[in-house]
Amino acid sequence: MGDVVLITGASEGIGRATAFTFARGGYRLALAARTAETLKQTAIELEQSLNAEVLAVPTDVTQPDQVQKLVEATLERYGRIDCLINNAGICLSGPFLQTTLEHWQALMAVNFWGYLHTIRAVLPDMLKRKRGQIVNVGSIGGKMPLPQMAAYCASKYAVSGLTEALRLELQPHGIQVIGVHPGLVNSNFLKRAIFLEEPGEDNLTHPSRARQRMQQALESFWVSQPEEVAAAIWEAVCHSKSEVVVGMAQWAVAAYTLFPGWVGPLLQSLPD
Ligand SMILES: NC(=O)c1ccc[n+]([C@@H]2O[C@H](COP(=O)([O-])OP(=O)(O)OC[C@H]3O[C@@H](n4cnc5c(N)ncnc54)[C@H](OP(=O)(O)O)[C@@H]3O)[C@@H](O)[C@H]2O)c1
Repeated sequence: MGDVVLITGASEGIGRATAFTFARGGYRLALAARTAETLKQTAIELEQSLNAEVLAVPTDVTQPDQVQKLVEATLERYGRIDCLINNAGICLSGPFLQTTLEHWQALMAVNFWGYLHTIRAVLPDMLKRKRGQIVNVGSIGGKMPLPQMAAYCASKYAVSGLTEALRLELQPHGIQVIGVHPGLVNSNFLKRAIFLEEPGEDNLTHPSRARQRMQQALESFWVSQPEEVAAAIWEAVCHSKSEVVVGMAQWAVAAYTLFPGWVGPLLQSLPD
């Protein structure tokens, strides 16, 4: 019987592509996202096209009790979880002073606390079996600063810190913690993102400059497809890599790591 992977944010984008990749690799799947219909549709496509074994559990990762039920349902169905892929995430871009406390809380609730809830729920079983892999899908924004994205970067830097510290703590117990950091990816993520306006901007008649910039970036050559990120996650899991920065983002992160004093001001000087 195949190993078991639990993927959050599995109905669309990177999570969905990852579900297909792991199903092709022989894994049995537990999939989570909030919208039951989209999740069910993804599960049906996996079953019909790949004959995959799928458990789909509508779950809001911001709710620890729902996450606990997801993990219990997975353990009941399959008896174990070999790999957790924390992937459900949301995006917000805008000036710091336009970002309300409610925005910060909503972003952290999914991007940080959502990851924490799933890890806390799967860990007792992994520790008991002294075996497991946890993949945290981070972002280029968790490896270097991005303009007008303080809240998103804070949430993804929190994921980087969690990933790196947990790796040290859990490695002696046979559990591997992996960070996978995509750059810009061609999914619905940015279409669903919240773009806050500069004071005086009117988003009803004009898309914000930030949204226009994102749209242009999505048409540029350095955008990855969800399948490329899924392949990077698969490679990392199969070859026990600690960290992967996906696609062209690796060059930007390398440049920032080597020359933070140059790349920071360069980012600041990008036109609005
Ligand atoms: N796309 C990019 O440019 C990009 C770049 C770097 C990093 N990333 C990271 O990659 C990950 C996936 O992004 P993506 O591009 O695949 O996004 P996406 O296409 O918008 O898909 C997001 C998935 O997460 C689910 N989701 C959202 N909120 C949730 C919640 N509270 N509980 C459970 N599921 C939830 C969504 O389904 P429901 O709405 O039905 O819940 C959907 O399945 C995120 O962590 C993101 O930060 C993305």
